[in-house]
Amino acid sequence: MEKRVRRGLQLVSTVVRTFAERTPDYERLLPAIAWAIADAIPDTCLVSLCSEDCTAVTPVATYDSDPAIIEKLAPYRRTYGLAETPIGSEAIERGSQFQPAIDYDAIEALSTRSAEMFRAIGARGFIVTPMRAAGDLFGLITIIRRRAEHAPLDELDLEIVEDLAGHAALAIMNARLVKKLESGAKLRETTQFLDAIIENIPDMVFVKEADRLSFVRFNRAGETLLGVSAADLIGKNDYDFFPLAEADFFTKKDRETLANKQLVDIPEEPIQTRAGTRWLHTKKVPLVDDSGTPRYLLGISQDITERKRADALLRAAKETVENANRELEAFAYSIAHDLRAPLRGILGYSEALLEDIGDKVDDKPREYLTRMKEAAGRMATLIEELLGLARITQADLVRSRVDLTAIVHSAISGLQHAEKHRKVEVVVQPGLFVEADPHLMAIVVDNLLDNAWKFTAKRDAARIEIGQLGNTFFVRDNGAGFDPQYADQLFGVFRRLHMQEEFEGTGIGLATVARIIHRHHGQVWAEGQLGKGATFFFTVGDAL
Ligand SMILES: Nc1ncnc2c1ncn2[C@@H]1O[C@H](COP(=O)(O)OP(=O)(O)O)[C@@H](O)[C@H]1O
Ligand SMILES: [Mg+2]
Repeated sequence: MEKRVRRGLQLVSTVVRTFAERTPDYERLLPAIAWAIADAIPDTCLVSLCSEDCTAVTPVATYDSDPAIIEKLAPYRRTYGLAETPIGSEAIERGSQFQPAIDYDAIEALSTRSAEMFRAIGARGFIVTPMRAAGDLFGLITIIRRRAEHAPLDELDLEIVEDLAGHAALAIMNARLVKKLESGAKLRETTQFLDAIIENIPDMVFVKEADRLSFVRFNRAGETLLGVSAADLIGKNDYDFFPLAEADFFTKKDRETLANKQLVDIPEEPIQTRAGTRWLHTKKVPLVDDSGTPRYLLGISQDITERKRADALLRAAKETVENANRELEAFAYSIAHDLRAPLRGILGYSEALLEDIGDKVDDKPREYLTRMKEAAGRMATLIEELLGLARITQADLVRSRVDLTAIVHSAISGLQHAEKHRKVEVVVQPGLFVEADPHLMAIVVDNLLDNAWKFTAKRDAARIEIGQLGNTFFVRDNGAGFDPQYADQLFGVFRRLHMQEEFEGTGIGLATVARIIHRHHGQVWAEGQLGKGATFFFTVGDAL
């Protein structure tokens, strides 16, 4: 057998093995082809791939044992349209192009670029062979003979190259197939993963195509909620399932979402299901393509029916309690109000009686009578204060900028005026302002200062401080203080922690303060220690 034939066969077997080994390794396969061929059939080998629609070719691998040659070919490594490579087109259309001795004039006439390239590397002959497998074209193999010491290319070379081109085409086809299968498997895995997420989201998830707004996706939670299977829903739109007015509403919101390309939040919407009306909180999101055109509408709906029901029950219960409270207050008010007249009678007559009998009776009956008169007087005070408290609940709350510092000064001067003998150090932070009802705030300040003044009565160096920490106001004194475990109870009506004999009072002041502060959406609390003074804090909330 001729030496060259044997070598050719050897080459085929090497290349086939290489192809088989590298099949899935698409990117490294092509240089391997170029290398194997050029090594066996000197001198230069180029492998080009066709675009999928076979309208262009791109050189992807170049091999020559001389690196300078590869460099010279570098400028030609770009994608060519078929019209730009007449020799390549010719090979694709009619089969291998073979010129053992290049006819430069003829080439020049066909393509100056090809002639230029051949000249650049001193080409003497060439073979251009298409790579085909199973009827599909994959690319071209070009063999260029340039060295004078090598015999010109001949028919045997052509046969070997064509044979190799067939194997190479098969290898490329396999590689592409493997790649496709792999990416298909990956895609399936990703799809399954996303499916699992969508199906397991406990809220209804649906997707509609932007054009007709027909459903393309509907998850399990949606099936359960509506009582309609995804299979029944897909391809249909809202008008196939819901009452007209409802479908109109849904469609309007869908269109709005798509037109504005923005999320639309529908906090509450009723929907007819197999199990009756349900309430949904729905968010609609436009899904846009790369060009920004909305293609789909994604909807996520949470079933808020139970929550709504619970809210309604809670509201009703609250209303009932509030009504009952109001009635009770009105009732207490009317009783207190009606008690005033008879009480005035008792007071008036006991006074008259005391005057009339004067010295005519013993000390004892007079003392009883005096006690009776005092008790009636105390009751009258209680009733007046209770009525005051009731009025505060009913009074309108009108906010304005209130100068707390000024109110404090005027309250203190009132207290000092009533008890001139007392010496109390009062420290007031200047510029205390609050957005509140001025009349009601004055009552708050009066009551807190009243207490501070009263409970410091037994101190030699009494001190009262009024100021602000952040948004919290405080009134601090160094008076009698109280047991901190009862700090919360002070604000109840008639709640007192001190004996009447020790410190007089009715126990309505702090209840009034608390009511006013709560009407302002603020908070009030107290800190204290027995014998070590007390601090009362309050905030005033914003108008709602
Ligand atoms: N500055 C204070 N220092 C100590 N205890 C106080 C102070 N302010 C209020 N208290 C306690 O809280 C109770 C309730 O106060 P309040 O409602 O104003 O009633 P009153 O002043 O009529 O006793 C008081 O009786 C007292 O025990
Ligand atoms: Mg008081």
